[in-house]
Amino acid sequence: MASSVPRKSSVDVQGLLEQLTLQEKMSLLAGNGLWYTAAVARLGIPSVKVTDGPNGARGELFTAGTKAACFPAAVSIAATWDTGLAQRIGKAMAEETKTKGASVLLGPTVCPHRSPLGGRNFESFSEDPLLAGLQAASVIQGLQENGIAATVKHFAANEQETMRNTINVVVGERALREIYLKPFEIAIKKAQPLALMTSYNKVNGVHADQNEHLVKEILRDQWGYNGLVMSDYGGTNSLEDTIKVGVDLEMPGPPQHRRLAAVEKALEAGTLDMASINDRVRSVLQLVKNVGKFEHPEQVAETAINDPAHQRLIREAGADGIVLLKNEGGVLPLQTAKLGSIAVLGQSKTCFSNGGGSANLNAHYKITPYEALQKAVGETVDLRYATGAHIHRKLPCWTAGVTDGKGQPGWTIKEYMFAAKDKGFSDGLQPQRTYAFPLTTYMAIEHVPDAIRLEGTFTPTSTGAHYFSLPALGHAKLFIDDELVFDAGPSPDPRGYSEGGEFEIRKQHDFVQGETYRLRVEVLAPSAEQAMIPLMAGRIMFHLGFMEQKDYEEDLIANAVAAAKDADVALVFVGNSAEWETEGHDAANMSLPANGSQDRLVEAVAAVNPRTVVVNCTGVPVAMPWIDSVAGLLQCWFAGQEAGNAIVDVLLGVVSPSGRLPVSFPRSLEDTPSYGNFPGDLATVTVHYAEGIEVGYRHYDKHPEKVLFPFGAGLSYTTFEFGPAVISPQELVHGGVVTVQLQVKNTGAVAGKEVVQVYLAPPQLESGSDRPVRPAKVLAGFAKVEVAPQSSVSVTVEIFFESAAFWDTAAACWGVDSGEYAVLIGNSSASCTDHGSLTVKESFTFGP
Ligand code: BGC
Repeated sequence: MASSVPRKSSVDVQGLLEQLTLQEKMSLLAGNGLWYTAAVARLGIPSVKVTDGPNGARGELFTAGTKAACFPAAVSIAATWDTGLAQRIGKAMAEETKTKGASVLLGPTVCPHRSPLGGRNFESFSEDPLLAGLQAASVIQGLQENGIAATVKHFAANEQETMRNTINVVVGERALREIYLKPFEIAIKKAQPLALMTSYNKVNGVHADQNEHLVKEILRDQWGYNGLVMSDYGGTNSLEDTIKVGVDLEMPGPPQHRRLAAVEKALEAGTLDMASINDRVRSVLQLVKNVGKFEHPEQVAETAINDPAHQRLIREAGADGIVLLKNEGGVLPLQTAKLGSIAVLGQSKTCFSNGGGSANLNAHYKITPYEALQKAVGETVDLRYATGAHIHRKLPCWTAGVTDGKGQPGWTIKEYMFAAKDKGFSDGLQPQRTYAFPLTTYMAIEHVPDAIRLEGTFTPTSTGAHYFSLPALGHAKLFIDDELVFDAGPSPDPRGYSEGGEFEIRKQHDFVQGETYRLRVEVLAPSAEQAMIPLMAGRIMFHLGFMEQKDYEEDLIANAVAAAKDADVALVFVGNSAEWETEGHDAANMSLPANGSQDRLVEAVAAVNPRTVVVNCTGVPVAMPWIDSVAGLLQCWFAGQEAGNAIVDVLLGVVSPSGRLPVSFPRSLEDTPSYGNFPGDLATVTVHYAEGIEVGYRHYDKHPEKVLFPFGAGLSYTTFEFGPAVISPQELVHGGVVTVQLQVKNTGAVAGKEVVQVYLAPPQLESGSDRPVRPAKVLAGFAKVEVAPQSSVSVTVEIFFESAAFWDTAAACWGVDSGEYAVLIGNSSASCTDHGSLTVKESFTFGP
């Protein structure tokens, strides 16, 4: 079952370890900069490169880096319910990682979705630990079978971004084991990821990276994990404890905690021992060996290879993850031969390829739905476009009408190093580096100038009090014709930049059409106090946003309504851009951004066109106040660089939709199990996982009225029938596997794929029983099959004995109680029906 294929290497790790000096050992236990482990040239120990992230290999630069393939987000992969496809994506991501000269990919992310507000949910698979664990295992297998180490992350209980570095997650042992650790356990036991990343947060009072219970007892001792454990970036919180519990690598370097002088002191004082250091070093050397770096020590330059096979795979996977949630009167697929006009509204000229933060990368290209639709039917059908709503969180980059020093479109950026940190700009100070800069978003993470200047000449297309904004990490100022028009202050709060612009201050300035204006932005790097997070000290980030007043204040809805009124069909594209769904930030509510603009658009369009179809691109469930007034709804997630083609393939029926929800869609935020306990109490920096194991459908099964679309749901353009199930054996024993076999018939007219979902319903407790209360059912297995029209396919799903288990907190082990377990089968958690049962004759325990 092992998916990791440590390459055959004769390198003697123990022999090397014995020759290392303490200084060399410690150099190996922290990153060398952001993306490398340290080399020890004396002993021929090469450096290993790592790269983000969960949906592709970005390479070294956070912005405008080497182009890379953008794969569907994990939630979209989960929605395919296709483990083979997930594995093929893993393989392609391995190929991409190699083009970035890296041997370790910092993904997949597997933490369960706890609340629809979670900013990083899109990066992660599902609310259900089995679906998440199996899809993650498949991605890991695909990566590692192709020579790239996977990094499963963030261990553990990292279900929110709010105060992510400090929040204390208070979670019971049962929920921890059954829900939050389970995807890690499944992925680790099935696919043995060569690396794991700890999370930033505390779990029950102790930061994850120094949490003995999590890292030592559970991960290392109980699960026997012997891969490399690294901290999240800036997420190493001490010297001794992290080394002792088993965190091998402090990321990034230079170390904040693992400094030689401190280590020598700790060794002398006896608070740290050499055996622990040696264990950590052994792990790092083993990773270097496992990824074959001793045999190929050379550093490989980053390249951009736009592989047609990857393009096809991303399109196929994106389409297979799309979930058709509503299709009244068969409005979909679009019968384009019979359609004269389609209103193409909303964000149809945006490709919602990915979420923000470390999932971001410079995609080879991005196909928008509008482009894809135009290519497919633009010659024969009248496409009527209107944006209909602004959804900016930050004003867009200030690019239109701007030229640089050479008269070319874009800006010039100059990076400065000061003679001394407190000197500032002095007369005659020359920039260290000057280069053309196309956009107005800047992040100096990899190299750290003391200050930057951004210069350009701007000619507006209209007269007005135009809007601009300048969120920054650092002290930012905007000058127009050398006059200071905005001083953002020393920016003590980096969230203005890194949390996507929630703190963006919008200002207005008068401009006259056709006049030219000399623009200059200056930003000074923040001190440690100004940056708030030590890792961010000295690193400049800023975004210069701009909109002309006429565009900012235009009545977009009226245009969209006019386009929709007599169109044969109205497609309204809505979603969360990467500014809204991103690392570093949780949503404040479940509504689409911004300030209701997209909901108002859908409502206005649906009011004039009964054939309105909403195409939603979000990584999470959103509030749908208009659901009863639209005819169709597609949930498309973030489908990668081919999102436009994938969506249009489904809209036109080239692909019959086969995605099924990997998360329940609640009716409202108040209906969610974590409501009132997300993101927790910010005054005490504590979040209580008070709902225990009642996460997702484990909660909604008890409250069906609270769910709009249940876990596992999704329609198709064809229809399927499930035959009777043959369950064998019918007894479940410790270590046992049961197979469930049945026929799936495609009873419709077109080919399609169906997901067979098998749930196990534990025996109901007698009243007065003191046994732990179990969920009504849990997902125990699934399979996806393609079936030709009017044909049948035999499907076999395996149920492992662990699916019947619960965490027995009193006994501190897993338990399976005797009794009858119903086997429920269907194509959603709500529609599955009784197909037989399994008997556990005698209760048993196992583990931990
Ligand atoms: C994220 C990690 C990521 C790392 C490097 C951290 O802030 O939490 O997921 O791999 O940065 O970019």
